[in-house]
Amino acid sequence: AEPLRVGVAGLGTVGSAVVRILSAKAEELAARAGRPIVVTAVSAREKGRDRGLDLSRVAWHMDASQLARANDVDLVVELIGGAEGPARACVETAIEHGRPVVTANKALLAKHGVALARASEEKGVPIAFEAAVAGGIPIVKTLREGLAANNVSRVFGILNGTCNYILTRMEKDKIGFAECLADAQRLGYAEADPTFDVGGFDTAHKLALLASLAFGVEPDADGIYVEGIASITPLDLQMAEELGYRVKLLGVATRTDAGVEQRVHPSMLPKESAIARVDGVTNAVEIDADAVGALVLSGPGAGGDATASAVIADIVDIARGVTPPMFGLPAGKLRSPTRAPMGRHEGG
Ligand code: HSE
Repeated sequence: AEPLRVGVAGLGTVGSAVVRILSAKAEELAARAGRPIVVTAVSAREKGRDRGLDLSRVAWHMDASQLARANDVDLVVELIGGAEGPARACVETAIEHGRPVVTANKALLAKHGVALARASEEKGVPIAFEAAVAGGIPIVKTLREGLAANNVSRVFGILNGTCNYILTRMEKDKIGFAECLADAQRLGYAEADPTFDVGGFDTAHKLALLASLAFGVEPDADGIYVEGIASITPLDLQMAEELGYRVKLLGVATRTDAGVEQRVHPSMLPKESAIARVDGVTNAVEIDADAVGALVLSGPGAGGDATASAVIADIVDIARGVTPPMFGLPAGKLRSPTRAPMGRHEGG
């Protein structure tokens, strides 16, 4: 069968892992996809940097939009990040030119998801984003395909690996906030601008996407109450611990009679609860639904290989021709979100 020619825009932690795993597992992936998957083009700001990859046979584009319309690219992987600028231009160019897109860009989709879903449907070209929410956890597929028979009443959890890593280290190792954040950056967990992590905005972007998938509404990041973890100290965590609680940054989306309530803030959880026990870069999402009941998924929420795992699953789906509507429903069927007034912030 004809190979699927992949262009990767953005060669940071995740992009480099995607290129490496696609090459290391080429045979197994070709067997699953029914055709070979080959990286033919990449784009990144610095060409010279050593990423431990053999890029001698791929085309280099300085401009991601140029990669998105290159003749030797069938599918575009966007791993640049950011709601505007080169990432948005790259995705829009790919769709205009009829090329499927796989992206991990939660900021872009939280803001422009509906417009992109419409463009994707008009052009008959899929946009897949498993890697945009909770890193390696297949939460998008779970909500969109796995729980198709359910009415979801609530989805909540730990959606930012950097914050959970920081809170865990501050609590266990009694280290200050700044040092923990520096370690999270060194490990490749943090956003290019870590304010998105610690300010709660990255969690909010992901929550908007989860709420859309869970409740059949348009993503509504602007309707989310957001509070981050920057003012939390090791002493706060110690005091919570003495009272039998752990502090976690949660994203919570609840369906109410008045509409969808969405909020992001640090929450005190009883120590023994499933979500409270999640440590380090791990994310955990609980879904409450009518047919299946409650389920919890947990796993690595950030990091190169774990996020690449989700990116590559999407590439394999597209290679096979599996292309569901982005948010589970055609864009025109998503309800515009009604914002419920905020309830008590009891957390989870
Ligand atoms: N900075 C994000 C996190 C990366 O720490 O969870 C994964 O989206």
